[in-house]
Amino acid sequence: MTKTQLKYEIRRLAREKNAIIMAHYYVDGAVQDIADFIGDSLALAQKAAKTDADIIVLCGVHFMGETAAILCPDKRVLVPDTAATCSLAESCPADEFKAFVEAHPGHTVVSYVNTTAATKAVTDVVVTSSNARQIVESLPADAKIIFGPDHNLGSYISDITGREMLLWNGACHVHARFSVEKILELKAQHPQAKVLVHPECKGPVVKLADKVGSTAALLKYAIADQATEFIVATESGILHEMQKAAPAKTFIPAPPEVAMDESGNARSCACNECEYMKMVTLEKIYACLRDEQPVVTVEPEVAAKAIRPIERMLEISAKLGL
Ligand code: 13P
Ligand code: SF4
Repeated sequence: MTKTQLKYEIRRLAREKNAIIMAHYYVDGAVQDIADFIGDSLALAQKAAKTDADIIVLCGVHFMGETAAILCPDKRVLVPDTAATCSLAESCPADEFKAFVEAHPGHTVVSYVNTTAATKAVTDVVVTSSNARQIVESLPADAKIIFGPDHNLGSYISDITGREMLLWNGACHVHARFSVEKILELKAQHPQAKVLVHPECKGPVVKLADKVGSTAALLKYAIADQATEFIVATESGILHEMQKAAPAKTFIPAPPEVAMDESGNARSCACNECEYMKMVTLEKIYACLRDEQPVVTVEPEVAAKAIRPIERMLEISAKLGL
């Protein structure tokens, strides 16, 4: 099939089967273009909770499919590739996190949505980068807090809220590799450019930002701000929507640090793409809609525990108008 036929068939199947195709901003632009809904992690969870579709095709990584499956036990939740996981979610194995929580009794456990269902099951409240600040601020002033798994996001939230938190030492390999030096070099070449940074980046990178925020917040800022040039320090998939929403503006992807070996050859990936997000292709979406496979399943006992902190997040967000 040509790309045009593929897109046509995907849309036809989605209509026929009353399926909604939801995509995160980090997936390939062609996938974003055929989606019914594009959003950041919070918006995807909110949309999944509300949809009346029979099938949800979650074009993102596995934990996003799990969250939708937990919120919609009566729907068929499909992911185009079950191998599309997340380095951050994997940096927090549920059994180790549970042991950490048990070793620190009396703490409120705040977990970033980038976690497996099993990790959410030992959590009190889930957050995303869109609502972490407000949710942490909504906790009693004397609450002792554990925050996991993203250490960079946790440090940032701790700094801006003034709340002390016990941090899990996890990271997203894509955001952790942005480099201060490379951004400063770009800034020297584009002195008028505003710097947009996702809070999963390291502290020194966050300090360079004109705007720190979730993918949706960075997009909103880029559209509304007077500046015409932006240096973007997050996964490069977001540039697709930024460029579509503000075609007259220039978006420059911040390059990551490149580790060199002894001979001066690049050792680590020199790109700012999440290889997991990029596993979602039109071909896989077509096959998954056609076959209604693979279905995301979450063990009922795990889902029964994991739904509470997810719903708590959605309730607080709704109350705060987020
Ligand atoms: P947001 O969708 O909250 O911006 O988080 C980005 C991310 O890393 C998703 O995996
Ligand atoms: Fe996970 Fe990072 Fe990829 Fe987001 S960008 S899905 S946090 S590995």
